[in-house]
Amino acid sequence: MDGSDMRADRLAVVAPSMIMGLVAKARALKAQGHPIIDLGIGEPDFKTPDHVKAAAIKAIHNDETRYTVVAGTPALRSSISDKLKRDNALDYTPEEITVSGGAKQVIYNAFMASLSKGDLVIVPAPYWSSYPDMVAIADGTPIIVDCPQEDGFLMTPDRLEKAITPKTKWLMLNSPSNPTGGAYSKAQLAAIAEVLRAHPHVWVLSDDIYEHLMFDDHRFVSILNAAPDLKPRTLLVNGVSKVFAMTGWRIGYGAGPASLIAAMNAVQGQSSTHACSISQAASVAALEGPADFFADRAASFQRRRDIVVDALSAIDGVSCLRPEGAFYVFPRIEGLIGQTTPDGVILTDDTAVSTWLLERHHLSTVPGTAFGLSPHIRISTAASEDDLRSACARIRAAVGSLRAAA
Ligand SMILES: Cc1ncc(COP(=O)(O)O)c(C=O)c1O
Repeated sequence: MDGSDMRADRLAVVAPSMIMGLVAKARALKAQGHPIIDLGIGEPDFKTPDHVKAAAIKAIHNDETRYTVVAGTPALRSSISDKLKRDNALDYTPEEITVSGGAKQVIYNAFMASLSKGDLVIVPAPYWSSYPDMVAIADGTPIIVDCPQEDGFLMTPDRLEKAITPKTKWLMLNSPSNPTGGAYSKAQLAAIAEVLRAHPHVWVLSDDIYEHLMFDDHRFVSILNAAPDLKPRTLLVNGVSKVFAMTGWRIGYGAGPASLIAAMNAVQGQSSTHACSISQAASVAALEGPADFFADRAASFQRRRDIVVDALSAIDGVSCLRPEGAFYVFPRIEGLIGQTTPDGVILTDDTAVSTWLLERHHLSTVPGTAFGLSPHIRISTAASEDDLRSACARIRAAVGSLRAAA
């Protein structure tokens, strides 16, 4: 028996992360001394706030270093309950809240706790790359529904109605979204809810991780603000990674019906047990501490969005929506497909475009195919304004060097 025989059948449908592959390639080129601008990674370039770091150090000195309860410390779940009331006007008791090692693990636990073989999960595309793979690991089947640029990359009631079957267990919603920055309005969520009312067996998993990064006059709305009656079949997922720049601390949380939360805790209790005790203490400080910097961060990401959208929209063959939130821009690059580079390479798809931009123009992006919708590239705006300007200038020059295929 060689090593490959050890793999479980369920892994046959799980793709290795394309994003991580590109990130590794970009890092290798950087290590060789190439002037790489990295717009591939979805990580804020701010620092964790000092008061959060101080709370973690205090927790270490206070010996908060032992196992906590599986669902998360009472203090953190109480802070999360307060946060949901304060920011979202939603009532959740600590028993309806679970804390895990990042929003990612919350979603994973939810699928492991709820999916049986043959269960379907509706995943609007473009999607955060992990959703379909996590569904597959949990023995479910992702049903990918294309939500093109013309629809603002958002799920429409029509498309949703057509996708629902008796085996549908979950609808995934992510607003504002990775990779598009598209966000639903209250009216759009109300229209989605209207469809769901006719299908009481379908649950909603609402990934709200970019909640505080909204631009212009757009405001974050939860599906439960638009349709409170869906609360008995909705799981809200959120965390501290993005807005508090705490990706490495690994704290996310879920809020939902107590029976689902108990099932998720059962999964967690037999896997990681609980999230890191020190990170949990730090997250209490994050959630209860000052929130005045949110607006500055959102304003900063809005400026960066505008730099990128304005520059890309002026390039032939590229078209770009102006995202409502998050820190990504997802331009359509249809006009580049089929063109030939000065080296004689034909750009057959968006993976070829991303690879060419990285290898020849030292710019790291992620192809739309990693998010289930092509031909696009995702540009993360978690970089300095200077880097974003230089990156757009590189794209402009690169596109200018292309010639139409003979
Ligand atoms: C849409 C979305 N959900 C969840 C996550 C994971 O967040 P966490 O760091 O809390 O696991 C990410 C991270 O990129 C994301 O983009």
